[in-house]
Amino acid sequence: MENELIIQNLSKTGATGVCFLDNVSLALPRGSRLSVLGPSGSGKTTLLRMIAGLDMPDSGDIRFNGTSILDLPPHKRNFGMMFQDYALFPHLDVFHNIAFGLKMKGMPRQKQAPIVAKMLTLTDLEGFENRKVDELSGGERQRVALARTLAPGPRLLMLDEPLSALDRVLRKRLLNQLTQILSRLHITTIFVTHDHEEAFAAGTQIILMNQGSIVQQGSPDNLIHHPVNDWVKSFMA
Ligand SMILES: Nc1ncnc2c1ncn2[C@@H]1O[C@H](COP(=O)(O)OP(=O)(O)OP(=O)(O)O)[C@@H](O)[C@H]1O
Ligand SMILES: [Mg+2]
Repeated sequence: MENELIIQNLSKTGATGVCFLDNVSLALPRGSRLSVLGPSGSGKTTLLRMIAGLDMPDSGDIRFNGTSILDLPPHKRNFGMMFQDYALFPHLDVFHNIAFGLKMKGMPRQKQAPIVAKMLTLTDLEGFENRKVDELSGGERQRVALARTLAPGPRLLMLDEPLSALDRVLRKRLLNQLTQILSRLHITTIFVTHDHEEAFAAGTQIILMNQGSIVQQGSPDNLIHHPVNDWVKSFMA
């Protein structure tokens, strides 16, 4: 399959000389689902922010459909990123939260409505359009955030720890729900987590990061049964 997103030798060093990303390369076929797994501070969010255009690398390239996107500002990349805390607008109802990106694009209200309706169906939120987001459960909020990210039709979907704001019991149930929604979409997806179970459920390929580097890339089976070193072995245990 043709690679849609290609990341070549991305590196970034902070002012203190600490390396946040160290020569990270990867290639994602169109429609694939990648999990980025790694402990806290391993560079997962930094990598997503660079792909989104919110952060610039010191060196390396990011290519999408054969063209470098490094010079494109975030809104011209047409990528969707869902943040860990969802970043919903508490003063807006569900409809206006989901429609936010469409409004920003200058889309007239009558064109927004059918897209929002489609997103409500996709995320099992029909009938919620007039609800205030601060009156929703954690799981409902998560689905509003996903619907808002998907509404503008992004070319790439990035989810940064989408379940971490939820308690443990909910996480498991919502992991199922979320992976079901993701499998209905045919959009290239990057799912960031520090939890193996989530990484394995969400991605067919996994990259395991530590200290800014990719330590191992492979299928869940590959990571469990063929760890490349003792660090991977103990992280996967
Ligand atoms: N703009 C920045 N300024 C200073 N340090 C930064 C900056 N961005 C990232 N870092 C550092 O880079 C390292 C990687 O951070 P990052 O947020 O990417 O990790 P993470 O894998 O997402 O961790 P977590 O699982 O805790 O979210 C950390 O040591 C962090 O402190
Ligand atoms: Mg992070």
